[in-house]
Amino acid sequence: MPRKTVPDIPIIEKTFTELGDSTPERVVARFAEVRQRFDQQVAEHSARKDPEEWRIFLLRWTGRKSGVLTQISDNWLKAARKELKPIVGQELNKLKAHVEAALEEKRREIEAAADEAAMARDRVDLSLPGVQREIGTRHIIRQTYQELERIFLSIGFSVVEGPEIETPYYNFEALNIPEHHPARDNMDTFYIEGTRGEHLLRTHTSPMQIRTMEKQQPPVRIIVPGKVYRRDNPDSTHGYMFHQIEGLAVDTDITFCDFKGTVEYFVREFLGPKAKTRLRPSYFPFTEPSAEVDATCHVCGGSGCRVCKFSGWIELFGAGMVNPAVYGFVKYDAEKLSGFAFGMGVDRLAMMKYGITELPVLFQNDVRFLRQFP
Ligand code: PHE
Repeated sequence: MPRKTVPDIPIIEKTFTELGDSTPERVVARFAEVRQRFDQQVAEHSARKDPEEWRIFLLRWTGRKSGVLTQISDNWLKAARKELKPIVGQELNKLKAHVEAALEEKRREIEAAADEAAMARDRVDLSLPGVQREIGTRHIIRQTYQELERIFLSIGFSVVEGPEIETPYYNFEALNIPEHHPARDNMDTFYIEGTRGEHLLRTHTSPMQIRTMEKQQPPVRIIVPGKVYRRDNPDSTHGYMFHQIEGLAVDTDITFCDFKGTVEYFVREFLGPKAKTRLRPSYFPFTEPSAEVDATCHVCGGSGCRVCKFSGWIELFGAGMVNPAVYGFVKYDAEKLSGFAFGMGVDRLAMMKYGITELPVLFQNDVRFLRQFP
C-alpha cells in the first residue's frame, strides 16, 4: 500500500491507470513534473542552507521505505501496465540518476562549506607574536660556586660533596674540637630531635676533610662546596644557613709556601690581577698555624674607603696548615705528611665581589634582584 508521506506531490500516490495516463508521452510528462518539483525544492534548500531541513528533504526523496523514489517505483513502475513498463523504467532510472547527481553535488557543497567554516575557526594568525617563555639564569651563589670551582679545578683540585646531617665526631671531635672546647660556642648548632645528640646539621664543610682522608690515601687535593648551618640570629649578614667551600691539600712535601702561593693565586683569579693578599694570625683547632686571608679592597684598591672601613683590606676566609693532631684521627702519618686547608663563606665572597649589602636578598627569590646577575 502506498503511504502518504509526500503530500506535496500527490500524483505519485496514484497509479498511471488511476491518473488516466496511458501513453508513453504522458509518462514522460509525469516524470518531468516530478523532476521539476525536485529541482525547485533543491533550489529552495540551497537558499536556506539549513542542515536539519536538508536531512529531512533527503529522506523524503531517497528514504527506502517511503521516499518519493520508492513510491514511484511502487505506484508507477510495479503497478504499470505491461506495455508502459519499459518507458516507466527508463524514466525512473533517469530521474534516479538526476536526483542522485544533484544530491551528491549538494552534499559536496555542504561539506566544503563545513570545511571552510572549520578552517576559519582554526585559522592561525602567523603574524601574532609568539608566547615567550622567560629563561632563568643561574643564581648568583651558583655562579660564584662555579667560579670558585673553575679556579681550583685549574690547579688540580677535585670536587667532593658530603652530608649536611653530621655526627659530632666528624663536625667537632675529629677536627680536634673536643667537647667543652670554647671553639664549639660560636658554632653552636641544630641537633636533630630524637637522636640524643648523635646527629646535627653541620656547622662547616670541614667534616669532609675527615671523611675524605679516612677513605683516601695522600695525595689529597679536594674542594667541598655545600650548605652549612648555625644557630645565628638572623640579620643583614647572618642567617641560619649559608654556603661554604672547603679546601684541603695533603701530601708528603706540602709547605707553607705552597699554601701561600695557592691562596695568592686564588685571590688574583677571583678578584683580579691587581689584588694583593695578606695573612693574619688566627686560630682554628684543626689548623696550626692558622690564618685569616685578607685581600686589598676591591673597591678602593687599598687606599681606604667605606667598604673596607678605611683599612684598605677585606677579610676573605680562614685557613691554615693542617694540625698534625687531625692526622691522628684518620690514621695518617703526621711525621711524613703535611698540608693546608681553607674554608670560605661563599655568600660573603659573592656579596663582597658584587657589592651586595644584604644577605637575605640572596634567598628571597625576588626576580628584580636575581635579574641583575644574568
Ligand atoms: N671551618 C672553618 C669555619 O667554618 C673555616 C676553616 C676551614 C678554617 C679550614 C681553616 C681551615 O670557620
